[in-house]
Amino acid sequence: MADKVKKIALLTGGGDCPGLNAVIRAVTRTAILKYGYEVIGYKYGYKGLYNNDIVPLDLNAVSGILHRGGTILYSSNKDNLFNYLVEENGETVYRDVSDVAVENLKKENVDVLVAIGGDGTLTSARDFARKGVKVIGVPKTIDNDLAATETTFGFYSALDVATDALDRLHTTAESHHRVMILEVMGRNAGWIALRSGIAGSADVILIPEIPYNINKIADKIKERGREGKPFTIIVVAEGAKPKGGDVVVQRIVSDSPDPIRLGGIGNKLAFDLEQMISDHEIRNTVLGHLQRGGNTSTYDRILSTRYGVAAVDLIHEGRFGNMVCLKSDKMCFEHLENVIGQVKLVDPESEIVKTARSIGISFGD
Ligand code: F6P
Repeated sequence: MADKVKKIALLTGGGDCPGLNAVIRAVTRTAILKYGYEVIGYKYGYKGLYNNDIVPLDLNAVSGILHRGGTILYSSNKDNLFNYLVEENGETVYRDVSDVAVENLKKENVDVLVAIGGDGTLTSARDFARKGVKVIGVPKTIDNDLAATETTFGFYSALDVATDALDRLHTTAESHHRVMILEVMGRNAGWIALRSGIAGSADVILIPEIPYNINKIADKIKERGREGKPFTIIVVAEGAKPKGGDVVVQRIVSDSPDPIRLGGIGNKLAFDLEQMISDHEIRNTVLGHLQRGGNTSTYDRILSTRYGVAAVDLIHEGRFGNMVCLKSDKMCFEHLENVIGQVKLVDPESEIVKTARSIGISFGD
């Protein structure tokens, strides 16, 4: 389809995750090789759009980055230009500075903005679309918690790290007859814990969607002991909570669009179990940002490439204001108005949870 697009811009926003570089590469290569567009990147997410901090992207600039985690464009998870911290008369105040960004896009003759990020980045993309900017969204997050898509890129890379960690904990748990807890990320969704727990043969999986009863976990540890397995592996999502209890908040990042940072449930669990279990030592490992670093998994390299190509095809077709997504393993698109704030949680009655239960994994309920 003929179109008037000549130049597109990319930015990566929010927390980084493996696959961002693969998307940047796929968008740039498709734009140049398939459609002859010029491509630039804004550095540090929307902050770069505000400051007009740009970098030209050509085939050379995106060479050798497919496998690398992180983002060559850098990222920021604090810069919502619709509510942006600026200095006025010696004071810092929040202002809507989105018009500055729109002017910058015009100044650079950017026809379409490709925003790669999670809910916060995509919310801004939607808000720019409402202002008449031509945008395309690409869904990213290790948490896999965006409802509009089956899988976000970054998720399977994080899963590989968590599964490897569980494998490593197994050998040391077995040697010392210990209870080993692994705390993984995921915010309020249990996808990383659930999938890595199955792949890494955890004995107990604790996820936010199924609040746990500490007595059931202690029972499981004792039961395993009676069965001649004097060690237990527990994977706990950072958003998990006891029945009737609450999540453990690690810190508040006040200038972030999503200020609550979870973390600490592994330690709490270890402490609580120590009061009930005397014949095993208990150790907790927090996997943290290792889940977001390092090389991109094979699956994510392919998924990110598909997302990047699909995003540029949408531009060519003039389907602005949409986010690319995966449905029944096919590349599709969904309007940004329909995807924002739609969180995808684990269904406790789903086949994958039942599968785990069938092989004896406890959810502590
Ligand atoms: O959303 C991705 C994620 O890694 C979450 O799993 C985690 O809770 C959060 O970001 C950590 O954020 P930060 O990088 O600000 O510590």
